[in-house]
Amino acid sequence: MSEDVESKNWTYGDYLQLPALLKLQGEERGISNDEMHFIIVHQTFELWFKQIIAELTEVRDILNKDNVSELDIPLSVDHLGRTTEIFRLMANQWSVLETLTPQGFLAFRDGLGTASGFESYQMREFEILLGLKNEDRLGGMDPIEGFRKAAKNDPGAAIILTRLEELMGQKTLVESLMSWIERTPIMGSIFASENDEDNVEDYVNAHLESHKRHGESLYGSSNSNSKMTERINMGHQGAIDFLKPNGEISRSRAGLLFIESYRELPLLTWPRKLIDAIVELEESIVKWRHSHARMVERIMGRRIGTGGSSGVDYLDATSKYRIFKDLWGVRTILIKPQNRPKLKNGEFYGFNSKSLI
Ligand code: HEM
Repeated sequence: MSEDVESKNWTYGDYLQLPALLKLQGEERGISNDEMHFIIVHQTFELWFKQIIAELTEVRDILNKDNVSELDIPLSVDHLGRTTEIFRLMANQWSVLETLTPQGFLAFRDGLGTASGFESYQMREFEILLGLKNEDRLGGMDPIEGFRKAAKNDPGAAIILTRLEELMGQKTLVESLMSWIERTPIMGSIFASENDEDNVEDYVNAHLESHKRHGESLYGSSNSNSKMTERINMGHQGAIDFLKPNGEISRSRAGLLFIESYRELPLLTWPRKLIDAIVELEESIVKWRHSHARMVERIMGRRIGTGGSSGVDYLDATSKYRIFKDLWGVRTILIKPQNRPKLKNGEFYGFNSKSLI
């Protein structure tokens, strides 16, 4: 708390600025209870978005350093955990909106004009901060386009546009995370050290060899057929393409594979907790998007949205978006612990037991 806050003898209402906050729900327009609830749910989401942006900015800033302090990793995991809980809370909050009947919504819907969640700039802000690319959005959509047009006549929109464009010029969370993972010591080999490239290549090739052998061991299984063989071969080619995009080893993906494959190593405990926290976060975002679509389908069926999109179909398409693609992708190419390449330099990772294969 700042000195100013400490010295002031607050009342509850003053501290939370309740008189100002409680004037913002539009009663002066003579709105119904249904509409007030619609506004309050939106406002609470936007307040949570504000908190989400603050949490994710801190995580991005922690990871966006050449030397990430080990002390900061548990802190990032805490921030990510809080963000995930907010998304879970928001996913449940749709059920409050579902108390709005289709007719109750239609009664005030026309009054919204073209206003739509589509214009939520805080949502765009955290999507950009996380690293959602336009080419990964439905139809390569540019969600900033609307603000560009509006900014020509509207100074408020111009401020939002500047903020979003500035953010687009900054490192995203996914980029910061992947450059941190890229520096993971692999089999005790230090990033950019003399023989690192060879060591990493040996590790990746040993993993791929084992992956191939495992696939081949399934060729002869009772329910195998040529379609199955084809799928197994495609799966193996997928593993090669993942680890060697354009024929060159991706050290960040190799690092990710190493962390996921040898998760029990003490030195890898926090890196894997961080990765798990990110996966959990993205999963909670996807579920939140999905439950928005279900709520919308229930209240307004398949009509078009006030923002002019196809409505439910558009929202369902957004639940296919993935930002941390490599974190999901690596899961497809893992092999069982018994088959993973023998660990080298185990002592580097604080591992003393001889039991690790
Ligand atoms: C009865 C309630 C609601 C209905 C019927 C509804 C409907 C829709 C529809 C149809 C869209 C697609 C864009 C469009 O064409 O308008 C949309 C987008 C969106 N809505 Fe809602 N919505 C509701 C409540 C909310 C609430 C409470 C929030 C909280 C902030 C919200 C946030 C958003 C956001 C952020 C988008 C953009 C999604 C994206 O582009 O990925 N919506 N909504």
